Amino acid sequence: MQRPVYLVTSEIYPFSKTGGLGDVMGALPLALQAQGIPVAVISPFYGRLSSGNFRIRLSISDCPVGYPWQPITADVYEADYYGVPVYFIHRGEFFDRRYYYNDHKGDYFDNAERFIFFCRAALSLIRRLGVNPSVVHSHDWQSALLPAYIHYLRQSGGFWAETSSALTIHNLAFQGRFSSRLFAGCGLPPEAWGMEGVEYYGDLNMLKGGIAYADAITTVSPTYAEEILHEHCGCGLDGILRKRKAHLSGILNGANYSVWSPEADPYLPATYSAANLSGKATCKQALLEELGLDARLMQRPVLSFIGRLRGQKGIDLLNAIVPDLIKLDVGIIVLGEGNPEHESTVLEFMEMYRGKVSAVVNYTEDLAHRIQAGSDIFLMPSRYEPCGLTQMYALRYGTPPVATAVGGLRDTIIPWPKDNFTGFTFERSSTAGFLQAVSKAVALWENDQPAWQNMVQRAMGQAFTWEEAGAAYAALYRQINRKG
Ligand code: ADP
Ligand code: GLC
Repeated sequence: MQRPVYLVTSEIYPFSKTGGLGDVMGALPLALQAQGIPVAVISPFYGRLSSGNFRIRLSISDCPVGYPWQPITADVYEADYYGVPVYFIHRGEFFDRRYYYNDHKGDYFDNAERFIFFCRAALSLIRRLGVNPSVVHSHDWQSALLPAYIHYLRQSGGFWAETSSALTIHNLAFQGRFSSRLFAGCGLPPEAWGMEGVEYYGDLNMLKGGIAYADAITTVSPTYAEEILHEHCGCGLDGILRKRKAHLSGILNGANYSVWSPEADPYLPATYSAANLSGKATCKQALLEELGLDARLMQRPVLSFIGRLRGQKGIDLLNAIVPDLIKLDVGIIVLGEGNPEHESTVLEFMEMYRGKVSAVVNYTEDLAHRIQAGSDIFLMPSRYEPCGLTQMYALRYGTPPVATAVGGLRDTIIPWPKDNFTGFTFERSSTAGFLQAVSKAVALWENDQPAWQNMVQRAMGQAFTWEEAGAAYAALYRQINRKG
């Protein structure tokens, strides 16, 4: 019998999601299953967990979570996600909150305890389920202690002797860095505290622990895998990443086209395809109405931004050029939440340019789909972008992106004026570069509709499939497999 791979993640769509991690983890297990790999997922049972129309049932009550000095347990719930078992770790004191990681005041004060508990509960659950895993695959800092645990457990042989660990970095900027006093609660041996382990300048750094111990480290695009080896993108971890370079690779995410396809999107007022784009105009008209934008924008390009209102996404660059963009006589739509300062700036623009700018400061899954479909140009001036999914969705929805040429954006957009271009990129993150790139896009829209329509059709034809990504992960698991 083939041994299972466990994916351990703090988000899995449709049950939980704050961003791209959720989307990816909703698709990766199915892609692995399609590769013939037995796979299961472990994730927290949040207070705001959605059932996503799956039946979630109690599977194990009071599963002991190996804290030797403290009898602490977790209830484990289970859903059958298209044949993949998804186990949800339930412990109210840690996960029954309004949000996932933070509220408007900032990060939850006990995030270290919450996710150390989550990692330990994942280990206890896997042990309890009783089949030795071939790989335990962590995602981001919230599950990044697992490679460290597996490294030490493996030394004592037995159940874990033939288990490998993998860590995927979806965003190097979030590291799970906490006070050193929390190290004791990890239950790792004292030798894990040090430069070669989970310590980082006197603090506990959970992501660094994963990087130090994982048998394979991946990140979500080839370009980002290269960028993080350098100081300007390394978020202070470029040193250890360079040291572990032989184990680091970039595997481009796929886009989940069963959720994101204009041909069959239940959130849209009309569906459309590259062969018949008439539904896109219907989507645009309905979107202008929904958001209270001028109907005359049907004759002008409408620009959109969807994402976290944070420095990473370059929302400040967009805010800086809104008055210039308005001079180009375009419509602008922003959907996002995040930094309160950026939130109020986009809302002020909506007041200032009524009918031309619409800002929705909220997290609204269905509106994200309607904006992708109903706008003409997608804006993504990210300072860095490990992969980025929204530009992949924009391409598929025939809304060519204008983006910084970094990370996954570089790997997915074919920039004007290359043959077969599918969008526009600019090299360094600057307001001047961004404005220039948007102006080029608007000029093409105005002056050469046939060229624009050809670009739209090429963009819609680009495919970033999970079949390809799944095969790459399967190959990686074979490489690190410990049992012949
Ligand atoms: P990141 O994970 O860095 O936030 P990605 O491009 O990988 O960026 O994925 C972002 C995901 O989150 C996409 O599915 C996008 O549609 C969604 N998203 C981001 N902000 C919002 C929002 N305010 N409302 C709805 N969906 C959002
Ligand atoms: C992170 C990154 C984003 C990536 C997503 C899924 O949130 O910021 O670029 O697409 O993870 O891997």
